[in-house]
Amino acid sequence: MNTDFKVCPSSWIVKRIEDIDNIDNLNILDFASGNGRHSISLANQKRKITAIDIDSKKLDKYKNYKNIQTICFDLETNQKWPLKKNEFDLVIVTNYLFRPKIKKIGDLVKENGYLFYETFAVGNEKFGRPTNPNYLLRHRELIQTFKNKFDIKYYFNGKISDSVTSVIQRCVLKKRVSQY
Ligand SMILES: C[S@@+](CC[C@H](N)C(=O)[O-])C[C@H]1O[C@@H](n2cnc3c(N)ncnc32)[C@H](O)[C@@H]1O
Repeated sequence: MNTDFKVCPSSWIVKRIEDIDNIDNLNILDFASGNGRHSISLANQKRKITAIDIDSKKLDKYKNYKNIQTICFDLETNQKWPLKKNEFDLVIVTNYLFRPKIKKIGDLVKENGYLFYETFAVGNEKFGRPTNPNYLLRHRELIQTFKNKFDIKYYFNGKISDSVTSVIQRCVLKKRVSQY
């Protein structure tokens, strides 16, 4: 999906990060990081981040930041991801959706860790791109996708008006400790 038009970090993501305790020591992943608006914002706050994206030209813009490790990788093939399971305290996904592998994103999160997900939802096609249903979350889709392993701490699906009107879905998910 190529609607990489935003440069400022999502204010919702910024706020959610502020809400987490002990943020300073967290291992953070910016998944499909694009031009790095979240990675750069976090690195400027002296936090360590891994940023992964298929687009090396975008990654080149911030690969020299001391606190950012960039990985250029196609997340949509059947190649094994260069990321360990249960590795991250926080995974951030914004403006990216690839349904065939969405559940695998949850595997990257540590127990008691968080997944912050914000992307476009059905209804957005009335206002602008993306219009392709493959890139639009259905009502409650993030809840349905992750509810087996995560507690839902926050959910929103609806219209927002920033500089433009869009329909988005946002979710804060906290991974449960597995019971063996
Ligand atoms: C709309 S941008 C969002 C970027 C960033 N998350 C943000 O919100 O600013 C979508 C990103 O997904 C990346 N992407 C698309 N297909 C990909 C793939 N197969 N593997 C890895 N990244 C991919 C693109 O390169 C692009 O940077």
